[in-house]
Amino acid sequence: MLSLKYISLLQYKNYLKETFSFDKQVIGIYGNNGVGKTNLLDAIYYLSFTRSYFYKSDLQNVHHGQSGFRIEGEFDAGGQDQKVICILRETGKKEVSLNNEMYQRLSAHIGRFPSVIITPDDARIITEGSDERRRYADALLCQLDPQYLQYLIEYNRLLQQRNNLLRALADRVTHDKILLDVFDAQLLVPGAYIFVRRQDFFRELLPAIKAIYQYIAGSDDDLELSYQSDLSHFSFAELLHKTRDRDMLLQRTHMGIHKDDIELRLKGQQFKNIASQGQRKSLLFAMKLAEYDVLKTTKGFAPLILLDDVFEKLDATRMHQLLERVCSPGNGQLFITDTHGNRIREHLEELSVDYSMIGLSGR
Ligand SMILES: Nc1ncnc2c1ncn2[C@@H]1O[C@H](COP(=O)(O)OP(=O)(O)O)[C@@H](O)[C@H]1O
Ligand SMILES: [Mg+2]
Repeated sequence: MLSLKYISLLQYKNYLKETFSFDKQVIGIYGNNGVGKTNLLDAIYYLSFTRSYFYKSDLQNVHHGQSGFRIEGEFDAGGQDQKVICILRETGKKEVSLNNEMYQRLSAHIGRFPSVIITPDDARIITEGSDERRRYADALLCQLDPQYLQYLIEYNRLLQQRNNLLRALADRVTHDKILLDVFDAQLLVPGAYIFVRRQDFFRELLPAIKAIYQYIAGSDDDLELSYQSDLSHFSFAELLHKTRDRDMLLQRTHMGIHKDDIELRLKGQQFKNIASQGQRKSLLFAMKLAEYDVLKTTKGFAPLILLDDVFEKLDATRMHQLLERVCSPGNGQLFITDTHGNRIREHLEELSVDYSMIGLSGR
């Protein structure tokens, strides 16, 4: 069992200094728009991932007018207290520690205290470009496999360097094509690893998403999910070689695992083009619940689940199905936000789970 016992925030987003204690399996968080419900969930997410779900740059997370922030939380992980502290120093340096021991690499932390977040913004996973779906898949794989995260960081770094070099070659700042060979050679190992991991992993995940979709929607609607990768047809070495002239022309690397996608189709057509609002919501929840199930099975305990404003997004029946799945005994801790405390209470009363409520008020 994994649960968060408390969280203390210092200068994180709208919070100057605040501590919240969580004593139950289910915690409802309510308050008007803008009081900081999403920010509180994001701070919990931060303890899992050492980053915000919403902002790429940590500077945006710092309370306006301050410099630096601190998030402290204590988990109960299978009966053991585990204290996590994330600090953004005034210098911009980030430090994360577990039980007062600082990590050398943040990737060593990710996956220890897994969590799944569902927010209104997540519709983008279905409607927007492939980078949103890679981000979804990567968040899951990184929690399962530290090596994957390590390679992903390495791949992105090398890719950036290669693209910089392609631009420099085009601008005739350099003529060093040998360096291009070096980058190509270095990209192969992380690229191939990530491809194989995704391929293996999607073989189980994609059917699981489909099964949950069927459960939520009541029909599978001829839903098809498939992994698309340039590396499915050619080895990465071949690809880089074949496309080098074009890369030089375009001044960027246009093939590789950074272009991978999960293709979503409904009745043979692009999902986002023909799916109804309801079908979109069902697919999104299926993707998130599959993530939850995989983490739970692989880790042997349930991840935290962070549900932001889902009442706005789901009808009562779907909402009930969702809560039933994640609130039953043997599941992990659940945080759920809404503008109306009563709406949360009503649903939770029906499920007869043990919960507590936190009301936030702006000041
Ligand atoms: N870095 C920051 N410093 C101060 N306030 C912030 C910062 N980032 C966000 N906020 C404030 O947080 C509030 C939004 O909080 P949010 O968690 O989205 O509210 P809710 O989810 O309850 O509607 C806004 O008023 C916004 O101005
Ligand atoms: Mg919000």
